[in-house]
Amino acid sequence: MKEHLQHKIFQIISDAADEMERECYVIGGFVRDIFLKRESKDIDVVVVGSGIELAARVAEKLGQKSKLTIFKNFGTAQIKHKDLEVEFVGARKESYQRDSRNPIVENGTLEDDQNRRDFTINALAICLNKSRFGELVDPFGGLVDLQNFVIRTPLNPDVTFSDDPLRMMRGIRFSAQLGFFLETNTFDAIARNKERISIISKERIADELNKIMLSRKPSVGFVLLEKTGLLEHVFPELLALKGAETKDGVGHKDNFYHTLAVLDGICTTTDNLWLRWAALLHDIGKPRTKRFDQRLGWTFHNHNFVGEKMIPEIFKKMKLPTNEKMKYVQKMVTLHMRPIVLSEDEVTDSAVRRLLFDAGDDIEDLMTLCEADITSKNQEKVKRYKSNFQLVRRKLKEIEAKDRVRNFQPPVSGLEIMETFNLPACAIVGDIKMRIKDAILDGEIPNEYEAAKNFMLKVAPDMIADFQKAH
Ligand code: CTP
Repeated sequence: MKEHLQHKIFQIISDAADEMERECYVIGGFVRDIFLKRESKDIDVVVVGSGIELAARVAEKLGQKSKLTIFKNFGTAQIKHKDLEVEFVGARKESYQRDSRNPIVENGTLEDDQNRRDFTINALAICLNKSRFGELVDPFGGLVDLQNFVIRTPLNPDVTFSDDPLRMMRGIRFSAQLGFFLETNTFDAIARNKERISIISKERIADELNKIMLSRKPSVGFVLLEKTGLLEHVFPELLALKGAETKDGVGHKDNFYHTLAVLDGICTTTDNLWLRWAALLHDIGKPRTKRFDQRLGWTFHNHNFVGEKMIPEIFKKMKLPTNEKMKYVQKMVTLHMRPIVLSEDEVTDSAVRRLLFDAGDDIEDLMTLCEADITSKNQEKVKRYKSNFQLVRRKLKEIEAKDRVRNFQPPVSGLEIMETFNLPACAIVGDIKMRIKDAILDGEIPNEYEAAKNFMLKVAPDMIADFQKAH
């Protein structure tokens, strides 16, 4: 173990603890990550005594180079030293009240402290005192669980989850993040205690969901959320995608599993959290738009637009950011069928120009989403779609080079229209601008000032006359 405690900070903590004659350990995620060979800059130190006093002594030894923050109410302290963050806490024995996450805290031994941690793999401790420096303290078989890829609570899981229901989400998140299995009793206890998640703040739940979203294969997390019953409480709109109905012998695919396949697929090509969210939400409007038509079978008309409208309510409720990130997700969801529809028809220049215009700089992300959306088992179909996409991508490049419509600015301004025809600011000015834009996107005229002006001089007089007649 000693070789993992080479950093001089451990020596300094060790000296400080020995001087104060306090037992002291590094514990939790940092120790777990040593065995998983994951780098970690967050160090948790537990001392049998006062965390604040030990932190103060360590800060004194580090001198100017460190920043000490004391959280008196929690009895903890933090030192920031270069790129490290070290948390100091006194060993505790805790008991929780049923409807609150606020514990009643008493001082305790190392064993008490390990008992109250979430999972065996997070309860490992390494002693820092000189006489036992590097000694691993593993009362619950955390090391064996790490080797067997198992997530298990140290105590009766009903007690551990009841103490802090966020741990149910954490367990599932670790399963997704580390590729571990939830041990059966732990799994069953989540299913039994799932309602208790209601006392946890939406922000903390969103944090865990985002960590699941950023894992290599997020479907692992979402399947566990569904199977334990937590999904119903944390994301009912996603659960509503589950199930495949059959009518008159016609079925439709299970949109929950399809969505997860799209999500896992996109995760192999992008780390962009919000593009991943777009994949998770691309079909979220399907349950609300599902119809059975004798002639067409199952339809989900306008599910992209309905999905786009649902996103602000979902983000607000889940305390996800309702800023430009959300707008980006909405845009992806609205447009997610456009490249595929385009590739099914003849790929006309005009359709490609319109797609470029609507997607702007997000066109590459949209193509990535669309490619991930092809989850058909029919290899012929997949091949056809993929080659159509190649064609769309090629055309996108050609047209962008030629017409520059990606970040389209109308070549004739509203002001110029008003001045040319002596018009006040009114609806017809917008109509004329739109007519010019359509002409460019449809390839009637090039995306250039002279052509646009001539076009305006040709079409606007009739439009203005019609407008004046009507008003
Ligand atoms: N812990 C816990 N219950 C929680 C949160 C944390 O028992 N709800 C304990 C675990 O022992 C955990 C340690 O506190 O290892 C540190 O927590 P934290 O920094 O939140 O998580 P890590 O385990 O370090 O993992 P990550 O940084 O990926 O969240």
